[in-house]
Amino acid sequence: MACKKQGVPFAGTEEQRDELLKVISELKDEKGALMPIMQKAQEIYGYLPIEVQAMISDETGIPLEKVYGVSTFYSQFALQPKGKNQISVCLGTACYVKGSGEIFKKLEELLGITNGECTPDGKFSLDSCRCVGACGLAPVMMINGEVYGRLTADDIPGIIAKYE
Ligand code: FES
Repeated sequence: MACKKQGVPFAGTEEQRDELLKVISELKDEKGALMPIMQKAQEIYGYLPIEVQAMISDETGIPLEKVYGVSTFYSQFALQPKGKNQISVCLGTACYVKGSGEIFKKLEELLGITNGECTPDGKFSLDSCRCVGACGLAPVMMINGEVYGRLTADDIPGIIAKYE
């Protein structure tokens, strides 16, 4: 899997490209087509690398700077791929006061990545999130949707090892 840290090249398939071109030709003459095209492109590729943005720009005639501007403005668009295991640490108030900042730091050290990145082998990506409604278990992190609560930084290596 491609990763920002390593600059692994984008690897889209012909099928993905054909699917995107079909979506663009169906939508491009409609007003306000850029957002739905970008949403579909993200569904097809899983994220929106610059190569996909360039394809959208070429096919719609919308300048790449505009496509890029939209992709960075809206948090729904991911410019980096996600890892096979998606780690999300809650930095909401209840978790933060109970030390989720330390948990996050430990993960950064252990995995060698920071917020929004994935490991070079594509196994893990790391993100922070707001309150996930499990404040009673603070501090909380989730891996692939599974909740881990009442964490200490010392718990982290053992948990990560389960996903290696
Ligand atoms: S603040 Fe973390 S679950 Fe609510």
